[in-house]
Amino acid sequence: MSAPGTATARAQPNIALVKYWGKRDEDLILPVAGSLSMTLDAFPTTTRVSVDPALDEDSFELNGAPAPAAARARTVRFLERVRELAGASARARVVSANEAPTGAGLASSAAGFAALALAASRAYGLDLDAPALSRLARRGSGSACRSIVDRYALWHAGTDDASSFAEAVPAPDMRLVIVTVDGSEKAVSSREGMRRTAATSPFYPAWAATTEQTLEEMVTACAAGDFEAIGQLTESHALRMHAVINASMPPVRYLAPASVAVFDAAASLRAAGVSAWATADAGPNVCVLTRPDDAAEVAAAVAPLGAVRTVGPGSGARLVDSAQPEAGQ
Ligand code: ADP
Ligand code: DP6
Ligand code: CO
Repeated sequence: MSAPGTATARAQPNIALVKYWGKRDEDLILPVAGSLSMTLDAFPTTTRVSVDPALDEDSFELNGAPAPAAARARTVRFLERVRELAGASARARVVSANEAPTGAGLASSAAGFAALALAASRAYGLDLDAPALSRLARRGSGSACRSIVDRYALWHAGTDDASSFAEAVPAPDMRLVIVTVDGSEKAVSSREGMRRTAATSPFYPAWAATTEQTLEEMVTACAAGDFEAIGQLTESHALRMHAVINASMPPVRYLAPASVAVFDAAASLRAAGVSAWATADAGPNVCVLTRPDDAAEVAAAVAPLGAVRTVGPGSGARLVDSAQPEAGQ
């Protein structure tokens, strides 16, 4: 059992089928539109938070070393928010490890802040229900509000802090064949890339205006189990996101030639009658969405293009007993 004032939580990344890109409130992290994702059954982040009145300041160890200054500052800001909710002032020691590469477009910030929201809220004595936990995670990284939720999550854009959270939605069983073509940290973080897109991309108003419509179509397709529609909407929305990003100034481009090769492989598989649609977050790594029955064939086809891992829908953030953050589920 954990000592009082200590809690350990685990959460996985989620990959959006309808993407979040752009904030209408930077401080509260309210998105310009809603989004829909699958929480993965792989690549967990494990985070331990220990509240310690003897500390002068918060400490944050990430992946076995003191966290870089920017990551530390972001975590400290998040802990300030938790202390405000809890009416507490004591500082904390945070130790976290990601199994996903950090900052490579495989949603480490989603898994990281979902795990931190649960561990920190418990360590500071809060017992938040799922919507409140999702809202808290959102304050660390927008996409983290969806990693609180099991399997498939819909993040309601909402109109204010209280109404912007994720909840579970029905969808058929799917697989994502993740092709890691480059695990290194992106040059432009999601936060900065989003800011730049909103400020400079001439396509941003169109992106913002059309995403809610795509989301409605995706919710309907998921509820109906219409795989063809889910796949088409997924790939199209990802390409739209990269188009709006690519039109930013100074220029930003997250997809590499190797990423485009995976999109081409998905198109070839489709032409051969195999279910395969590609999507990519803010980074060069690509996920190919497929039916469970086709996953092995898709994985074999993309194996020459990168390190391949097939994942399915997994559980949202949960507490774990272990005192030590460690890799594995
Ligand atoms: P990604 O595509 O991996 O989500 P982002 O640019 O969105 O990349 O976010 C990367 C940042 O998220 C890191 O620089 C760090 O600030 C934060 N982050 C990543 N993992 C964790 C973690 N386990 N705990 C807290 N913060 C984390
Ligand atoms: C491309 O949630 O990482 O993965 O809210 O600034 O932390 P911040 O950004 P983040 O952005 C995720 C963008 C995306 C699409 C998605 O996950 O919906
Ligand atoms: Co992120």
